[in-house]
Amino acid sequence: MDNIKIITTEDGSHSLYHEELKETYHSFHGALQESVHVFIEKGLRFWRTKSGLPKQVDIFEVGFGTGLNALLAAHFAMENEVKINFTTIEPFPLDMEIISQLNYATSIDGDDLKATFEQIHTSIWGEKVEINPYFSIHKIKKKLENLQIDQKFDVLFFDAFAPSKQAELWTADLMQKCFNLLKDGGVFTTYSAKGQLKRDLKSVGFEVETLPGPPGKKEMVRAKVN
Ligand SMILES: C[S@@+](CC[C@H](N)C(=O)[O-])C[C@H]1O[C@@H](n2cnc3c(N)ncnc32)[C@H](O)[C@@H]1O
Repeated sequence: MDNIKIITTEDGSHSLYHEELKETYHSFHGALQESVHVFIEKGLRFWRTKSGLPKQVDIFEVGFGTGLNALLAAHFAMENEVKINFTTIEPFPLDMEIISQLNYATSIDGDDLKATFEQIHTSIWGEKVEINPYFSIHKIKKKLENLQIDQKFDVLFFDAFAPSKQAELWTADLMQKCFNLLKDGGVFTTYSAKGQLKRDLKSVGFEVETLPGPPGKKEMVRAKVN
């Protein structure tokens, strides 16, 4: 993977730079801050609070990448003693050589999550794997465009590369697919706040909100199935 380089973002957490796409895997202003804000706080915690703090959450992620969102969800699950079943899709898994250099496992609330991070990455693709009593992961090695799955989810983390770099993932058709992947009351979150995205989300039936973004980014989008 010579085209992928490790970078350090402004909050001290690592991210990756994809040289062909000329795109980073996270915000340069802070990978960890962005993921916590957009996916954990505005997605997972929001859904759980509005749903009366249920003891199980089914999450679907588009773009497993470095596994940072999976690790944050596992950390949330252990802290809140809630069972999270995390399903994630990624057609281009990263090499362990890169993953093993990332500093996420020691960057979250001073906890040592090295074993959990390693288990998340070494778990077999294509099967649901119980990592601990609070967290399971099911990694699917496919493109979102080709996904066929019967299951529905409570929260959807949409973490594809930016619309300017990977427009084919931000179409109304794929937003319809995301809508269909969610249960009633389900929540979709993403770091982008593009006008076309908001129009597409509305057109397929979502109720759309524009929220303040993480540090360095003005806005983000959350969309609900009502
Ligand atoms: C913004 S990055 C990853 C972010 C990831 N959640 C993380 O924390 O590292 C986008 C990811 O989407 C993946 N991807 C590319 N094409 C895809 C597709 N067609 N369907 C699903 N994921 C795709 C990329 O390989 C990349 O890992």
